[in-house]
Amino acid sequence: MYYSFPDNFWWGSASSALQTEGAREGETTWDRWFSREPNRFHNGVGPQQTSTFYEHWKTDIALLKQLNHNSFRTSISWARLIPDGIGEVNPQAVTFYNQVIDELLAQGITPFINLFHFDMPMAMQEIGGWENREVVAAYARYAQICFELFGDRVNHWFTFNEPIVPVEGGYLYDFHYPNVVDFRRAATVAYHTVLAHAEAVRAFRAGNHAGEIGIVLNLTPSYPRSQNPADLKAAHIADLMFNRSFLDPVLKGEYPEDLVALLKSYDQLPACQPGDSELIAQGKIDLLGINYYQPRRVKCRDSAVNPEAPFMPEWFFDSYEMPGRKMNPYRGWEIYEPGIYDILINLRDNYANPRCFISENGMGVENEQRFIENGQINDQYRIDFISEHLKWLHKGISEGCHCLGYHMWTFIDNWSWCNAYKNRYGFVQLDLATQQRTIKKSGEWFAATAQNNGFTRE
Ligand code: BG6
Repeated sequence: MYYSFPDNFWWGSASSALQTEGAREGETTWDRWFSREPNRFHNGVGPQQTSTFYEHWKTDIALLKQLNHNSFRTSISWARLIPDGIGEVNPQAVTFYNQVIDELLAQGITPFINLFHFDMPMAMQEIGGWENREVVAAYARYAQICFELFGDRVNHWFTFNEPIVPVEGGYLYDFHYPNVVDFRRAATVAYHTVLAHAEAVRAFRAGNHAGEIGIVLNLTPSYPRSQNPADLKAAHIADLMFNRSFLDPVLKGEYPEDLVALLKSYDQLPACQPGDSELIAQGKIDLLGINYYQPRRVKCRDSAVNPEAPFMPEWFFDSYEMPGRKMNPYRGWEIYEPGIYDILINLRDNYANPRCFISENGMGVENEQRFIENGQINDQYRIDFISEHLKWLHKGISEGCHCLGYHMWTFIDNWSWCNAYKNRYGFVQLDLATQQRTIKKSGEWFAATAQNNGFTRE
């Protein structure tokens, strides 16, 4: 069967500043954490040693062109642009991002620019990070500076990538700095991130900038173990906490009532101020980026909660290992292709069918060198992964979902936070010793698919 996609479908990939650019002047939370605890990073490889895009941007963009990308997302590093987060703009950073944007446009590749991808300037974290409303104001200023510097050429802006992840990593589950475990602080960070998002949207609209603004959310459909009401309730609460805590504010301009009532009943609501609700209502977006990697399977708890234990989301559900599930063993994530379709249908039916696109989907695999044939990584597993997801995306579009594109994570193998270079995701292999780039078989497949605006598959 031939799967063809709508005209002007966005074919491309996504990356982020901190994971690709390499050494930078402004310190981020990652630099600080790495300097204190290098053992927390795979093979002790830190955030200053990432794919050298800062040096190789021109030839890397030529590779994007070779992969037939018509669009590409990356982020601006707040700490590179404004090293202390709030003061002077760094002119070298302006030159760098101008060159990248201009070269993308010269190659016919539409730049999608994100403003925050887990990379808090350390000076901002030192005054409390997202727990402090001064940081919300500093972020709004930074966003406005970006719109003014680059908005004449950038037409697709994103305020945040996966804003729930710094909440989970930094304040609940200890995989991002500042490694706090405290639900109320986590809720405050999430709430202030929504305010920061809305401030940026408001600044964008006030400046009458051309183009559109959105956000990138990792939507993780919550599937209950069974239709038993206890399992359904568990899945509903997981959905409220991990998906709808951002999805509802950015698409509906308000929080789900159930979520507010739940947190209120456990005395976990963050502090609100007059005007917050009006601000959140102004944060409605034009375009939603959807990152999809894995589903979340849950069941009701097997045991009662210990009332002495700290309040955590897991008071309401246990994770469920579905028998027979298909796994990516390297990352430990389930692969469930229909999830992409379920996300699109949920958006169509419950969120007025917003303009959206798949902004990340991908498969990290360890030791890909073992698949080298005639000098090239033959990653047929990645081609299968992409095409199976694209089939479900295609079905969603044929049923009326407003999905405008598909971006893969990622372009060139890059640095994956605490996993560093353990798992590789790229269309292009990176030799860490020589920094040489070699297109994988999946890159060739994707280039052909983008060129044909479709592919053949059983
Ligand atoms: C997404 C992020 O969550 O998944 C990326 O936007 C990240 O920054 C990617 O690299 C893959 O996850 P990981 O943890 O394996 O790097």
